[in-house]
Amino acid sequence: MFLVTGATGGLGRKIVSLLRQRGQAVRAFVRLTSRYGDLEQRGAEVFIGDLQQEREIQKACQGVQYVISAHGSNEFNRGKPEAIDYRANIDLIDAAKAAGVQHFVFISVLGADRGYEDAPVFKAKWAVEQYLRASGLNYTILRPSGFSSNLLPLAERFEQTGIYLLIGDAKIRTSIVSTDDLARIAVDSVAVEGARNQTLSVGGAQALTRDEIPRIFGRIFNREPLIINPPLAALDAVRALLGVVSPDSRQALGTLRSLLANEFFCTPSEIQHLETLFNFKMETLESYLRRHLSV
Ligand SMILES: NC(=O)c1ccc[n+]([C@@H]2O[C@H](COP(=O)([O-])OP(=O)(O)OC[C@H]3O[C@@H](n4cnc5c(N)ncnc54)[C@H](OP(=O)(O)O)[C@@H]3O)[C@@H](O)[C@H]2O)c1
Repeated sequence: MFLVTGATGGLGRKIVSLLRQRGQAVRAFVRLTSRYGDLEQRGAEVFIGDLQQEREIQKACQGVQYVISAHGSNEFNRGKPEAIDYRANIDLIDAAKAAGVQHFVFISVLGADRGYEDAPVFKAKWAVEQYLRASGLNYTILRPSGFSSNLLPLAERFEQTGIYLLIGDAKIRTSIVSTDDLARIAVDSVAVEGARNQTLSVGGAQALTRDEIPRIFGRIFNREPLIINPPLAALDAVRALLGVVSPDSRQALGTLRSLLANEFFCTPSEIQHLETLFNFKMETLESYLRRHLSV
């Protein structure tokens, strides 16, 4: 039995689907307020709970062999990184250990080890990584770059308007990872010997400069992109203003700022290592978008 947290998230849904396609037993940890009917339809056992409740985490871990932690705080679920990205994972690791779980897969983030002081999610991920490594559990820590699925709504908007908003330096590199490939790596990590007790950077097939993304959109929709490119200082101004009325929002924007200000890409040798370990070719962003946008 696999326990998947964040099962209603962009990545979690893919992980649950893949496990069910392979006929694996899955317990999907979901909130009552979430949309989880499709997970039930696929044959997942739905466990309704809140990751802020340690008791519920302990209950969810009973009878489980593998845990995939794919939950996270974001600007929409208004979760606090301290509670969701940090505490809930510490409780999950403790509960997994107590329940005799055989392997724990943790979805961290590329750059978790860089010490971005102003980015609460990065800080939480780094602390959890260290806790997991010291836990005595078999583990795989995956550090993905940005997910390709995040770009689908932007692509759909681009199709209508031709406009792409790019905040900050357009030449910063990123290796957006196919969310499908990441789900496959997360699932295979419990069985691939070379992934045991490893920390792996996970990016897509290419490192792209950020201004290549609207050009890919342009090729897909046969439309010249209009790139609106405000400087990072514009975000800083918004943060400073928000800080006066909402310190929480200011803090949340710290993670976004770190994402916009820094490079998040994998080297060719890191990608080759992944491809050898998991025995498949990582997909390019353009191929992923064409598949999912049916163009
Ligand atoms: N998206 C990216 O580009 C990216 C890049 C690198 C790393 N990551 C990491 O990858 C993981 C998956 O990201 P994602 O984009 O797929 O996440 P997501 O779409 O934002 O989904 C977050 C998931 O966490 C769940 N969750 C939040 N608070 C919860 C709580 N208190 N109790 C139970 N469930 C709770 C949400 O449930 P609800 O449906 O109820 O809100 C949702 O299922 C996260 O750890 C994230 O930090 C993401």
